[in-house]
Amino acid sequence: MRRKIVAGNWKMNNDLSATQALLTELKKQLPDTQAEVMVAPTFVNLFPAFEAARTSKIQVVAQNMHFAESGAYTGEVSAEMLGSIGIEAVILGHSERRAYFGEDDALLAKKVDTALSHEMEIIFCFGEELDDRKSGNHFNIVESQLKNALFHLAPDAWDFIVLAYEPVWAIGTGETASPEQAQEMHEFIRKTIASKYGQEIADRVSILYGGSVKPNNAQEIFSKPDVDGGLIGGASLKAEDFTAIIKSI
Ligand code: PGA
Repeated sequence: MRRKIVAGNWKMNNDLSATQALLTELKKQLPDTQAEVMVAPTFVNLFPAFEAARTSKIQVVAQNMHFAESGAYTGEVSAEMLGSIGIEAVILGHSERRAYFGEDDALLAKKVDTALSHEMEIIFCFGEELDDRKSGNHFNIVESQLKNALFHLAPDAWDFIVLAYEPVWAIGTGETASPEQAQEMHEFIRKTIASKYGQEIADRVSILYGGSVKPNNAQEIFSKPDVDGGLIGGASLKAEDFTAIIKSI
């Protein structure tokens, strides 16, 4: 059985008190579920969030990290720092990091290696832009993102990888990929992994969908056989919406 995961990416939202209030609400409303639940607050709120979530099944994860172990990288955060406050997983490759902070496949491959050397789990995001989809190039783009950042890994590294397919045109736009579009791409991703690492590893990797998942569309998307959960942005900022999405898995 593949792991089912619903992860909330809080991005640059919520100050300390809002972070604590949201976690308190989430703990209260969290449904009884087999799915793993993760939330990713901003760096400054990671430790208080970790403390607040300690007695719950909510796992607190980071939104990003640097590839270097330490040193003169002003404003950056290392894997070791994250580990030292109890954080065991990190989102890498989010399209906002790629678009606004120039993160490319080569840089992401380095971050992936560093995270793995610290035994951190990685939620690796990738997905095509609208132009790629319109021109029919979306499968090629997704395949190259996957290969360039992850296909140098040894097979056992895949125990630490969760994939999040997030078509850029669906992030924060209110426009979701249809359940059929999501399934089609997730199936393609799994086949691509199988072609390099074999069916067994491909079948074990959880592939989340992200991009305007809301309470009213989550169930249909999650019902697809190759969709193993979601990475949720906007709707993860409201306890009712996030818990409704968790319930629908
Ligand atoms: P959204 O964001 O749910 O607000 O579209 C998803 C994401 O960026 O992970």
